Amino acid sequence: MDKLLIAGGAPLKGEVAMSGAKNAALPLLTAALLTGEPLTLTNVPALNDIGTMLKLLAQMGVKVERAGDRVTLDAGGLDNSVAPYELVKTMRASVLVLGPLVARSGEARVSLPGGCAIGARPVDQHIKGLQAMGAEIAVEHGYVHAKASRLRGARLFTDMVTVTGTENLMMAACLADGETVIENAAREPEVVDLANCLVAMGARISGAGTDVIRIHGVARLHGAEHRIMPDRIETGTYLCAAAATGGDVRLTGTSAAYLDAVIDKLMDAGCDIELSRDAIRLKAPPRLASVSIRTAPYPAFPTDMQAQFMAINATAAGTAVIRETIFENRFMHAVELIRLGADIKIDGNIAIVKGMDRLDGATVMATDLRASAGLVIAGLVAQGETLVDRIYHLDRGYEKLEQKLAALGARVSRVK
Ligand code: EPZ
Repeated sequence: MDKLLIAGGAPLKGEVAMSGAKNAALPLLTAALLTGEPLTLTNVPALNDIGTMLKLLAQMGVKVERAGDRVTLDAGGLDNSVAPYELVKTMRASVLVLGPLVARSGEARVSLPGGCAIGARPVDQHIKGLQAMGAEIAVEHGYVHAKASRLRGARLFTDMVTVTGTENLMMAACLADGETVIENAAREPEVVDLANCLVAMGARISGAGTDVIRIHGVARLHGAEHRIMPDRIETGTYLCAAAATGGDVRLTGTSAAYLDAVIDKLMDAGCDIELSRDAIRLKAPPRLASVSIRTAPYPAFPTDMQAQFMAINATAAGTAVIRETIFENRFMHAVELIRLGADIKIDGNIAIVKGMDRLDGATVMATDLRASAGLVIAGLVAQGETLVDRIYHLDRGYEKLEQKLAALGARVSRVK
């Protein structure tokens, strides 16, 4: 199992390019199932989760061609509507094949994802929405079995804001008979990126990016080419690493347009931030001021940046209150940060982080993707060496992590 060895204390300096967004790429890959014509995606990040999704689609009969960051998928030969447990258990986002499969082929058997480190991660809203559109759904032997001769448009309301739930239902509605309205829809930029691609494929969608999305079903969709938006969470992660290490970095191939809440907090912490069309520059103060955060659906502060902010608060001046409102168990990184010397008290979904003058390197264990990112940031700040174990979590969501950090002057290497 790979580990990341970090010698802390070096401020990050220099320029590095960001990659395409994992959480836009995953639904965009499943959108290929909605048509028999080729869909080409560019700026596709080279991540383990992308590899898993391509494997899942290929075993369904989708032809996959990949050249660098360009992927062409052709679902003309779709001949198997099953997403098996072996693949789904390694990546929950596999559930995103459910809506497209029912819409395109009238049937799907998708393994229930099962929980993960950060929570139970149910898909009841995905199921409720498809049922409202006329799908017959049975959940048996750990699989969701959905059937529909043709989905019909409906008025849908999700009990809570769900990103992949909104994406699944929006994709299914593209081929339904009539109009679908999704209320309480997720407003994340990745939902908008998906909608833009679906429209390029011939879908009729309005309201993406707001909490009411209207979709007029069409008989079929055609092929298209779409460039994936930059990864706002990767961008936020590198901004935090620079902020915590007193650095000065310029991130290119990205946009601040989707990071208002994160950038506001980094400015409150004392950072100088310059925004340009496709780059962000951050100059950190010698020491950050503590910043409290409360996670919530977009455009509020993203839960995927919570662990990174717990890490930067660990050595900031003051005390921060971190409230996690999206997932029920997303503080797994706290006990690992405490091993590095952080002062963190957990009380339910609240973490109180008292900034320390320093952290001391230690061996820590990654538990989930963004928790691992928080530990890497803390390791970059800690005195001495930090060894982050189980970094396969990181490889799921951060492309060329050690190369990008090393390009910014970090002393980091991967050890077997
Ligand atoms: C997406 O997960 C992201 N993943 C997550 O990023 C992100 O943390 C999350 O949205 C919240 O922003 C992808 O886009 C692939 P949700 P998703 O459905 O869609 C509950 C990362 O690190 N819920 O918005 O699975 C759920 O339990 C990952 O890149 C139900 O109860 O999250 C959670 O408490 C981690 N029933 C809340 O809603 C449902 O049917 C929000 O979940 C669906 C969700």
